[in-house]
Amino acid sequence: MTGVLVLGGTGKTGSALAELLRGDGVPVRIASRNPPATVPDAVRFDWDDPATHPAALRGMDRVYLVPPTDTVDPMPLVGPFLAEAERLGVRRVVLLGSAIVLPNAPSALRLAARVRARPGWVVLRASGFMQNFLRPHPLGEQIRRHGEIRTAAGDGRLGWIDTRDIAATAAALLTDPGTGPGTGPGTEPGDQRDYLLTGPKALSYQDAAALITARTGRSVRVVHIGADEQAANHRAAGMPAEFAAALAAVEDGIRAGREDQVSTAVLDLTGRPPRPFAEFVRDHAARWGGR
Ligand SMILES: NC(=O)c1ccc[n+]([C@@H]2O[C@H](COP(=O)([O-])OP(=O)(O)OC[C@H]3O[C@@H](n4cnc5c(N)ncnc54)[C@H](OP(=O)(O)O)[C@@H]3O)[C@@H](O)[C@H]2O)c1
Repeated sequence: MTGVLVLGGTGKTGSALAELLRGDGVPVRIASRNPPATVPDAVRFDWDDPATHPAALRGMDRVYLVPPTDTVDPMPLVGPFLAEAERLGVRRVVLLGSAIVLPNAPSALRLAARVRARPGWVVLRASGFMQNFLRPHPLGEQIRRHGEIRTAAGDGRLGWIDTRDIAATAAALLTDPGTGPGTGPGTEPGDQRDYLLTGPKALSYQDAAALITARTGRSVRVVHIGADEQAANHRAAGMPAEFAAALAAVEDGIRAGREDQVSTAVLDLTGRPPRPFAEFVRDHAARWGGR
């Protein structure tokens, strides 16, 4: 059997990807810590339980890889998984990575390098998700409950991307027929193994708040805070201290303009331009509790 193992298959990008692949008639195996009984071909998979990894991989020739979400050091868990995938001859891995590199997380860079090193395996470096502005993401909770965005990013801009466009890009890469052994991307000079994924335009939090306010009637204001206060907020929300500090430091980088970039990768790979923020807001307008 061949097909796509979708890690994080119950999450935002994974569930949208599974739907697209099924629509294309591609066999899909959904991985989850609690595989829903109602979902066909779901399999139990837990990064923290390596015994679940080989069975999830068996028979699959492609993998969409969402790494462990709450650690700055994914390599100890993902490295052995990739070695097993390699041993089983998985021809395509699409890693959901991040455009933003956490300042104290060299392991994430090593993971991306490990994936890029294998012909046919590619890395998506996704910018900030537009869906962060929705619950249950903490930013979405803040907006819904208090009508505010507390940020240390100042007026810095980010190329926000809709997770549906990440899924569409991953689907294009996972159904690309030119990825057989010895024929796929990475086997010819100049083949790309790394894609920066962004929306069509970089926006500050203030820009995003103004769009939500104008299009939903839910008034959203931006409150500027320092990175230390932001780290304390993350810790108070239950985040491990190291991860909280890294996320807060990212906002310093945004303020300095380091994430102010857009790419054409979504259009290049899917043939469709990425959704603008205004379209994302229109599609989810009811979720901010406005008019
Ligand atoms: N938010 C952003 O702005 C942003 C930007 C760039 C990259 N990213 C990356 O995007 C990833 C999140 O992707 P997403 O938004 O599609 O997912 P998501 O909606 O946050 O859902 C998380 C998924 O990961 C699975 N998961 C959580 N813990 C797991 C574990 N221990 N073992 C196996 N699976 C586990 C969950 O499955 P079950 O609960 O069913 O097990 C769920 O399907 C993260 O790695 C994040 O770093 C985020």
